Amino acid sequence: TTGLNAAAKAAGKLYFGSATDNPELSDAPYVSILSDTKQFGIITPGNSMKWDATEPSRGTFSFSGGDQIYNFAKANGQMVRGHTTVWYSQLPSWVTSGNFDNATLISIMQNHVTNVISHYKGGIDNSKGKEILMTIMILDAWDVCNEVFNDDGTWRTSVFYNTIGPSFVPLAFQAARAADPNAKLYINDYNIEGSGAKSTAMYNLVKSLKAQGVPIDGIGIQGHLIVGSVPSTIQANIEQFTSLGVEVAITELDIRMTLPATDALLAQQKKDYQTVISACNAVEKCIGVTIWDYTDKYSWIPNTFSGQGAALPWDANLVKKPAYDGIVAGFA
Ligand code: G3I
Repeated sequence: TTGLNAAAKAAGKLYFGSATDNPELSDAPYVSILSDTKQFGIITPGNSMKWDATEPSRGTFSFSGGDQIYNFAKANGQMVRGHTTVWYSQLPSWVTSGNFDNATLISIMQNHVTNVISHYKGGIDNSKGKEILMTIMILDAWDVCNEVFNDDGTWRTSVFYNTIGPSFVPLAFQAARAADPNAKLYINDYNIEGSGAKSTAMYNLVKSLKAQGVPIDGIGIQGHLIVGSVPSTIQANIEQFTSLGVEVAITELDIRMTLPATDALLAQQKKDYQTVISACNAVEKCIGVTIWDYTDKYSWIPNTFSGQGAALPWDANLVKKPAYDGIVAGFA
């Protein structure tokens, strides 16, 4: 098995994948790796299915960016992870500044979820027919709600939480299930890799959603981590989550360092990738891993954390780093 998706599948996982973004699709050397299904079995659009892109003004939907990535993945025989319908960030100002009352914002949110998820619905694709001898699920999962908690486990302030209260979450999942009964519906967050207050909050929320019969299938652990500071409790935490009867995916993995990247840091990063991947690998219901783009050329890190970067398994010249072997070792 050569390739990260091949290694994940050989280990019994559903996929290894990468995020991407529309401007990157004109970079031919980049695309030739991204489209290689031995490397990546699922693609997440990093920006173009978010609210600011898909409903820039009220009731006017725009799917061109999302469709470009969806169609790219489909043409390669890759799955897609929808990201993301209800999030406090990357909202157009008509949502954040509209001063809508409770009932109006609920209907705006439901309408958004319904339209976006319906647009990509029916992702079972038989176009490869007997060549593949099984159906390919193109749209595998949606991050229905993203980042609902603060790091201390309290609810994060957002236009949805402030106006609707915590019931915005079950309402969003109900709308999502009605829009596409086949997509796996996830709640997704960062700093829930290891045990801690935020992971406990996520556990308790999903437990109560399940108890109320809310249609939720999975917990997405983003995995934006730091070299040398990877939690030791990842496997135990994933087991805790899956004990609720949901699956887990690692959805946005990257492991950043303070630049410059030295041999020692790259060696530690390799270990850290292996640690995260083996934690997922050890839990049957941890179904797959996606990295938040695959090359340092297109990572979000340097724009957000000044002086940090080199977080991904391919460097900015599209050359594999030691982290690549760490991922392969994690699936072994
Ligand atoms: O599209 C504009 C462009 O027109 C403009 O010239 C340029 C100037 O800075 O900005 C462009 O928009 C940027 C956009 O990415 C597209 O590149 C935004 O400024 C920038 O804020 C935005 O960052 C995205 C970030 O989410 C926003 O919150 C990152 O690409 C994206 O990787 C990141 O992804 C998030 C996940 O959705 C949720 N989890 C955390 C993860 C990392 O922050």
